[in-house]
Amino acid sequence: MPGNPRAESVELLRAALVRADYFADPVLEAITVEGQRGLTRNHTFAASRALGSRDDPLATIIRLFILQEEQPLEAVIRAGVVDLVNWGLLTRSGDMFRAGVDIRPYSDETAWVDGWVVSDHAATLNTRNVPPSPDHVLGVSAASVSLSQITPRRQVESALDLGTGSGIQCLHLSHHALSIVATDVNKRALDLAQWTCDLNDVRPQFRLGSLYEPVGDEKFDLITTNPPFVMSPVVGERLTYRETGYSSDEFMRAVVSGAGDPLNPGGSLHVLGNWAHVRGEPWQERLRSWVPVGCDAFVVQREVLDVCEYIEIWLADAGLNGTDSYLEKYQQWLDYFDTLGVEAVGMGWIAMVKSGSAIPRVTCLDWPHAVAQPVADDLMAHLDAMQYESWSDERVLDTTWILAPGTTQETMGAPGAADPSHIVLRRQDGLKRAVEVDTGLGGVLGACDGDLPLGAIIAAVAEVLDVSAPALVAEIVPQVRDLIATTWLTPVPQR
Ligand SMILES: C[S@@+](CC[C@H](N)C(=O)[O-])C[C@H]1O[C@@H](n2cnc3c(N)ncnc32)[C@H](O)[C@@H]1O
Repeated sequence: MPGNPRAESVELLRAALVRADYFADPVLEAITVEGQRGLTRNHTFAASRALGSRDDPLATIIRLFILQEEQPLEAVIRAGVVDLVNWGLLTRSGDMFRAGVDIRPYSDETAWVDGWVVSDHAATLNTRNVPPSPDHVLGVSAASVSLSQITPRRQVESALDLGTGSGIQCLHLSHHALSIVATDVNKRALDLAQWTCDLNDVRPQFRLGSLYEPVGDEKFDLITTNPPFVMSPVVGERLTYRETGYSSDEFMRAVVSGAGDPLNPGGSLHVLGNWAHVRGEPWQERLRSWVPVGCDAFVVQREVLDVCEYIEIWLADAGLNGTDSYLEKYQQWLDYFDTLGVEAVGMGWIAMVKSGSAIPRVTCLDWPHAVAQPVADDLMAHLDAMQYESWSDERVLDTTWILAPGTTQETMGAPGAADPSHIVLRRQDGLKRAVEVDTGLGGVLGACDGDLPLGAIIAAVAEVLDVSAPALVAEIVPQVRDLIATTWLTPVPQR
């Protein structure tokens, strides 16, 4: 490090953050839960009030790098960050200092990540309508966190973080990928991602460029991305963090359809984004057409917004609320959607695996319900289950299956009734699925504990219920196939 001023500045910043105990939990304690909730709404008042008159290093750093407040020279010196002026992370005006970037403590629920994310300051803080600059770099957003939760954490050799932004996904990937390539079309994003990674001692290779162009012929075991998916009229200046100049959802399509080549066999792509609901075209068909030969995909639509809801969210995000041009831009956007035939916008997740399928298998699911995060493993299980679709009924009957661990049974009925009128099996993991079963199916599933093949279990249940075994097989096998496809049942691993 001697003679390397950049490395020295990273050391200086990291030492100051550590000394001030600038980590997620102490910061939460200092700004309180109300303060934190205010920040997620882009309001600083509650956090600022919680800090009161404190001027210790932790409070100073919070005020500078989160609350966007000016701080006096003495406090900045005490916090040990005054030299960051030389690196553009602080600007000075007389004896007052402001941060040029947001530095946010960040940890996830698995505690794998406990560090900091560097990004631009939120542009629309405290209802201020300042349009972000075209090269604005997003901080930790709900979308960044969701992407981290739909990305599986299996050990891989190589990972691609496409559209790295602040570099937040690299922090997660560094725990399970031996090498990481992080790309972005925005030079400022790569600069700030470099700060994030340096601070956290993570070493990806950074590449400037669009889509898969910066990685050439390289192959990856895992690709993760929440691409700039906002479908806005292709006019005027673009906000790089959300728009590309591609028409409609063409950029999303390019991310998915272009992933076949850069994925290694068995490798997977994980995307968070949105897609158009176009007049006369079922959304499932649109998504199916994106999946390249050699791959299978599981698509989960979490939400559907009508065009007005969608436009209002993104006009506000661009700092246009209350401005003179608001209604004009609104109308322009509506006309744009009308020309494209866009009637609504679906938002959700795409998990795709390079399985070698000659004809892609694609399952599209509408799932607006609560899920148990992180949901990544369950999404992968749905992809994995696609292999059993081609199994014959005989093979399904000869196989020993295990019911998802943690499944519980709820029975409902009139008080005092001898038998329940409804039996529901429920899971608390992944998509938190529930399924209503009758006595026969419930009995069969209850016995799927990895001991006996399905055929033997159905025969035993038929005897107990005093019904014909072939009739019960004919009734239950199609239902079991559905339960296999939806990850309720997995085969006992072969030794
Ligand atoms: C919504 S942000 C996601 C940032 C980050 N991955 C996260 O999880 O917070 C999308 C990122 O894609 C980048 N981007 C925009 N156009 C791109 C393109 N054509 N190719 C690659 N990245 C692009 C933006 O600069 C931005 O950093």
